[in-house]
Amino acid sequence: MRRGRRKPEDLRSHRWLGASNLRAFGHRSRLLQVGYDRADFAGKPVVGIINTWSDLNPCHVHLRTRAEEVKRGVWQAGGFPLELPAMSLSEMYMKPTTMLYRNLLAMETEELIRSQPIDGVVLLGGCDKTTPGLLMGAISAGVPSIFVPAGPMLRGTWRGGVLASGTDVWKYWDQKRAGEITEEDWHEIEGGIARSFGTCMTMGTASTMMALAETLGFSLPGASSIVAPDSSHARMAAASGRRIVEMVWEDLTPDRILSGASVENAIVVQQALGGSTNAIIHLIAIARRAGIPLGIDRFDEVSRKVPVLADVQPSGRFLMEDFFYAGGLRALQNRLEPMLDLSCLTVTGATLGENIAGAPVWNDEVIRPLERPVYREGGTAVLRGNLAPDGAVIKPSAAEPRLLRHRGPALAFENYDEMAAAVERDDLEVTPDHVLVLKNAGPQGGPGMPEWGLLPIPVKLVRAGVRDMVRISDARMSGTAYGACVLHVAPESFVGGPLAFVRTGDIIELDVDQRSLHLDVSDAELARRRAAWKPPAPRFERGYGAIFAAHVRQANEGCDFDVLDRPIRLPEPEIH
Ligand code: FES
Repeated sequence: MRRGRRKPEDLRSHRWLGASNLRAFGHRSRLLQVGYDRADFAGKPVVGIINTWSDLNPCHVHLRTRAEEVKRGVWQAGGFPLELPAMSLSEMYMKPTTMLYRNLLAMETEELIRSQPIDGVVLLGGCDKTTPGLLMGAISAGVPSIFVPAGPMLRGTWRGGVLASGTDVWKYWDQKRAGEITEEDWHEIEGGIARSFGTCMTMGTASTMMALAETLGFSLPGASSIVAPDSSHARMAAASGRRIVEMVWEDLTPDRILSGASVENAIVVQQALGGSTNAIIHLIAIARRAGIPLGIDRFDEVSRKVPVLADVQPSGRFLMEDFFYAGGLRALQNRLEPMLDLSCLTVTGATLGENIAGAPVWNDEVIRPLERPVYREGGTAVLRGNLAPDGAVIKPSAAEPRLLRHRGPALAFENYDEMAAAVERDDLEVTPDHVLVLKNAGPQGGPGMPEWGLLPIPVKLVRAGVRDMVRISDARMSGTAYGACVLHVAPESFVGGPLAFVRTGDIIELDVDQRSLHLDVSDAELARRRAAWKPPAPRFERGYGAIFAAHVRQANEGCDFDVLDRPIRLPEPEIH
């Protein structure tokens, strides 16, 4: 639905800055206090730049200067830019996991906008949970919003070869555990694997979510693929600043951009990218913020129809820098045209189809043609069975194919510490056919559903050359990781899901073709174990953790808070 062009007195900020009353006097006088002139803000859209820069977030260090470039664009277009710092969810440093704080960033984003004279926002983020957190908050706040993705870092290098974020860390760590590389090698890798600012440069959660934000319509075309140090990244930031001013005048709000069709487009692109399994949780949460019903089964249905075209690690061979040079997301979307709804509106004011028209692919090895995909089916399978009544996911494209149909005895661990100690023992009774099971790593049990789903291969098997085995947990897995890891088991064990009742020696059957995950234990025996089960003590007795545990939903529902995942617009604040 087209809306009329807004006038200065229609702006939200007019209530703070344009009125002739005591409060507006105070608001204006405090802008003058900072050194702004009336000509800087009078009658202009106030643009909030919500910046997740932090010294402790190496993926976002350049966002400090990108905010200045966004401001330049806002000034050029006749807006009034104000930077609003928000918490930075640094995947590398925050413990136990940034996922514990995604909803907190979403709340902060929503309330930063809602409580202040903001007419539109530019969202600066990219490191894993920052993208969904910022989008979820902006969608709930409902003001025009544009997302500036931090962009991937450059390729890592070591001894003339290429190093990949995360993916090569797990590989070389296992080689170190097996005694195949030295301590000195390991230190050299440490210095070469992250050599510029920007997000992880594999198709991990960051790359996936930035691409999905663009596909949903929230970024300028091509923005998510630009490697962070490229000068076009700075120009994209300034262009986003110019564009948000127009979006405010056009009243181009998130509810006009986000739709069932744009969410469906995002699922198609996630599959074609061989994207992170974490995107399933985030996309469900984003959609539900807008009242768009979405469950995990839709990912499986789309996965069966959409081939993986991006030959990018961990599912493929290349890295995001190669993907950018090959044409980037627009080129991939162009290849997917027959599967996308091209009529979806985007932040440009044009449709997705208009944005990607004629976008060329420069390298068919990196972005494959539809008739020569990396995998015929997409990257996600949703499993069901008595071990996961509400579902679980696996990324078949990142697993050894022989393990996609497997029957073996469980080796069950009650928590992460018990598992971490056991896998380093030389006398652990384990074979390559065992199924490693980790409990109490879900939304409440982790808490925050940490990325523990890539359970380490026991060291005695690593030394014997084993590099993959079936692993099951209610945790998540880094999007940069690979392996036959069944993740997001729901309901989680901490709240009494069937995973809680698995014992070492129980037989587990995984059949990815049949989408089944079965615990070969009778219903009667499972009922006995359930009756004897004692719920674990709460992880938090106070603070944000206690709020999190009281309100977080399960993985198949997006892990949003039950008080947030509704499309209810809150009333504008009174200005007294
Ligand atoms: Fe920030 Fe990987 S650590 S994107």
